[in-house]
Amino acid sequence: MEQQKTRSFYGRRQSRPLKDNQKNLLNTLYQNIKLDLENLPKSFPDEVFFEIGFGSGENIIHQAQKCPNALCIGCEPFINGVAALLNKIAEAATENIKIFADDARLLLNALPDQLISKAFILFPDPWPKKRHHKRRIVNLETLKLVHQKMRKDGILTIATDHLGYLEWILEITNTPDFKHYFEVLNTHEMPRPSTDEIPITRYEKKALENRPGAFLIFKAV
Ligand SMILES: C[S@@+](CC[C@H](N)C(=O)[O-])C[C@H]1O[C@@H](n2cnc3c(N)ncnc32)[C@H](O)[C@@H]1O
Repeated sequence: MEQQKTRSFYGRRQSRPLKDNQKNLLNTLYQNIKLDLENLPKSFPDEVFFEIGFGSGENIIHQAQKCPNALCIGCEPFINGVAALLNKIAEAATENIKIFADDARLLLNALPDQLISKAFILFPDPWPKKRHHKRRIVNLETLKLVHQKMRKDGILTIATDHLGYLEWILEITNTPDFKHYFEVLNTHEMPRPSTDEIPITRYEKKALENRPGAFLIFKAV
């Protein structure tokens, strides 16, 4: 799989070697549903959902099955995650998912403005060491970019189980600068959305062994 290296992505691109059936899906199904920056669709349906860092794909497959008329775009540079989602897509014969196997910000920059009606950033890497905080995907710059690509009234959901990251996100999302772009719809103490709205992802499941995640919901204004 060709990859566009970016200086802004610091996570792993691969862990375990891929199994034969995963390689096969990358050579077949993936070729039909991958998004390339040079070759983006000319038009989009009314509903476009966008996930940054889909991990093993639990949320995006759920959203795609729940809303068959929506185009669900998932971004994930970790190839083992891409392979896991391809398996799910093949099993469910889902036809409304496109995959971008790189830094979501590259794709966001290339997409038309005011396109996305739902955006998800679920359990992003917390980068707990202070010197790594600048690697965190949730920052004002990324959120402004997400907003630029979102429709008015579009919903952005961010979840984290990491207390330090939660404080970081709350600090950003409490600023007048952020509130110029998004309305805050809930507080982090409120119950998580139903599993019909957002299923429990692999990382939420891991988190639940220690501490519950906080789900923050915003509306683009
Ligand atoms: C901790 S995992 C969470 C995965 C999944 N959302 C879940 O809840 O199980 C964070 C994921 O974000 C991906 N990621 C990190 N930076 C990214 C970026 N710039 N664009 C897209 N995905 C990214 C990582 O590769 C990783 O798989």
